[in-house]
Amino acid sequence: MNVIACENLTKEFEGDGTKTVAINNVNLSFNKGEFTAIIGSSGSGKSTLLSLIGTLDKPSKGTITYDTEEILSKSKNKIADFRFQEIGFIFQQFHLLPTLTSLENVLTPLFSRKVPYNKLERAKEVLKQVGLSDKMGALPSQLSGGQQQRVAIARAIIHKPSWLLADEPTGNLDTETGERIYSLLKELNEVEGCGILFVTHDPALASKANRIISMKDSVVLSDKVSLAP
Ligand SMILES: Nc1ncnc2c1ncn2[C@@H]1O[C@H](COP(=O)(O)OP(=O)(O)O)[C@@H](O)[C@H]1O
Ligand SMILES: [Mg+2]
Repeated sequence: MNVIACENLTKEFEGDGTKTVAINNVNLSFNKGEFTAIIGSSGSGKSTLLSLIGTLDKPSKGTITYDTEEILSKSKNKIADFRFQEIGFIFQQFHLLPTLTSLENVLTPLFSRKVPYNKLERAKEVLKQVGLSDKMGALPSQLSGGQQQRVAIARAIIHKPSWLLADEPTGNLDTETGERIYSLLKELNEVEGCGILFVTHDPALASKANRIISMKDSVVLSDKVSLAP
């Protein structure tokens, strides 16, 4: 899947008699080759945009088209299959299961899924790819923050998604570790051709992306192709 197009995308949350417009009439499209940074202050709608694009939630108004398909109008199972095939998620809080080893955590997306490759071999391969071959048997509590995020990245790519949606993946890491995580994602973009949407608070990391989208108060404030190499 090569192009994601959001048209007139709006997401409202209702509760306690109040209504919050998290995303307000957003029009954006993304090409798979791109590494896009999304910046903006807290509450501007970045996470909501990512969860809509990742099919974790449905818009109140507007559409998202994936190549030519409007997946969100399909059944729950179809949406889940699509998500499994196409999308990998990485979060600020690594969301690793504390009682599972790195290898077991990485394998979790494949539970109850039929795949045309050997699951264990694939898990070892992605852990090697993120530089953690020597930590396969470690529990999350035995790993540093940067290592835990690398396990989470391995888990996000095990099913070979075409897109990686990363919501402040370096938010809990020191600058140097954050830069390493950024480089790993950049490599996945360049070598594997993964489209990357990278939400960050860090202007230095954002400035290294191909494209920088800035959000404010639930709308897109600017959308710039970066001059960075
Ligand atoms: N599940 C939800 N229920 C109610 N309000 C929400 C929910 N998720 C997000 N919001 C609201 O939507 C707005 C945008 O939130 P969010 O997308 O998380 O922003 P960001 O990721 O940029 O910090 C905020 O005002 C937030 O409080
Ligand atoms: Mg957020």
